[in-house]
Amino acid sequence: MIVIVGGTPLGGEIRASGAKNAALPAILASLLTSEPVVLHNVPRLLDVETAVELIRALGKEARWEGNTLNLWGGEHLAWEAPAELVQRMRASFLVLGPLLARLGRARVPLPGGCALGPRPVDLHLHGLARLGAHLALADGGVFAEAQHLHGACVYLDFPSVGATEQLLFAGALAQGETTVVNPAREPEVADLVELLRKMGAQVIWHTERLTIRGQRELGGAEHTLIPDRIETGTYLLAGAITGGRVRVQSAQPQHLAALGDRLILAGCELEQGEDWLEVRGPVRPKPVDLRTWPYPGFPTDLQPPMVAFLARAEGRSTVTETVYAARFGHVEPLIQMGAKIQVAGSIQVVEGVERLRPAQVEATDIRAGAALVLAALAADGVSFVAAEQHLSRGYEDMLGKLGALGAKVWREEG
Ligand code: UD1
Repeated sequence: MIVIVGGTPLGGEIRASGAKNAALPAILASLLTSEPVVLHNVPRLLDVETAVELIRALGKEARWEGNTLNLWGGEHLAWEAPAELVQRMRASFLVLGPLLARLGRARVPLPGGCALGPRPVDLHLHGLARLGAHLALADGGVFAEAQHLHGACVYLDFPSVGATEQLLFAGALAQGETTVVNPAREPEVADLVELLRKMGAQVIWHTERLTIRGQRELGGAEHTLIPDRIETGTYLLAGAITGGRVRVQSAQPQHLAALGDRLILAGCELEQGEDWLEVRGPVRPKPVDLRTWPYPGFPTDLQPPMVAFLARAEGRSTVTETVYAARFGHVEPLIQMGAKIQVAGSIQVVEGVERLRPAQVEATDIRAGAALVLAALAADGVSFVAAEQHLSRGYEDMLGKLGALGAKVWREEG
């Protein structure tokens, strides 16, 4: 349980951690080689620990030195991924591509549904089948086999981050050239491309297509992960919602253009330098409309915290979720805290209220958890937010960073 005494404007500066969503595929990319892969700026959080546990279970060695992760070994990888680890974290499904490419066969359990609604892997499977994989679904898992993966042209019906990464993995060791039309353009995908290039992959990257020329083998590499734009955005919103002033250092402002635009429309003052952003929140925000969209659109992962911020706006905002069918886990608990939100299909209509009130609430997923923490920081009084498990999956030392900004927040058993 996280206890938050809200009502104090946050102030000061913190440093962004490395991006969780860049770390996970980077760790799994090490399965493509037995040479050493050294990753710097890796955030120490639960999902990253799960990824490390997963590759260890498959035969890799891993050693931490602070935020540097050394990965090596794996000449003889296992071809079956443990169900428990894949079900714990959806991104684990990405081991299918590397295992298939290295071993010619793989068995990976299906990740199943989640709190954000159904999240199928049809695009992953469609792409791998195009590259010559024979796929069979049985006992809740995917069995894939391919003597030789070969390059192909794959059109993605939606620019899925995971499917694009899966195809980069498989294409990197396939015979010939693989082209992904309508790939994801998220900075974390670009970061994975950077790492794969350092490992010897040949990737040509255009906005609407990416091409990867398969290699017989890939080598080791050393790589520093990009900063976490979702974490950065969360702390900027924490500053904004409390009417405070927060600076996030070691960030990449160009990855947060959509959020910056909406913060300014909402009446925030926003300043930025090459690697920092600083927000100054208004007494109450102006209402703004937005819709989530694949990068460079407004990130779905910042939608719940943004709704928490707009819950105090002077007027009505509409927030449309286009990436996930059911990313509304934050709505009920925010209503418990006094917010006025109605959900109609994919649209949330947020009628701003002057004050949020403290409450005891529970989160359903990582970003809903962040939204509730933000709302509690803005509510006058003591809130109890049951979100620790979710938050430690996605945020490195959140309580420490909020504390450094002057928040009165601590952990309590029970
Ligand atoms: C990644 C991020 C996650 C973020 C999401 C969207 C990681 C580890 N996670 O998740 O934080 O919220 O991008 O920016 O990087 N879909 C299909 N079929 C598929 C694949 C996806 O229908 O085969 C759908 C999903 O159900 C979802 C949408 O496409 O509605 C986006 O999914 P995708 O871009 O694949 O997200 P992830 O890679 O799972």
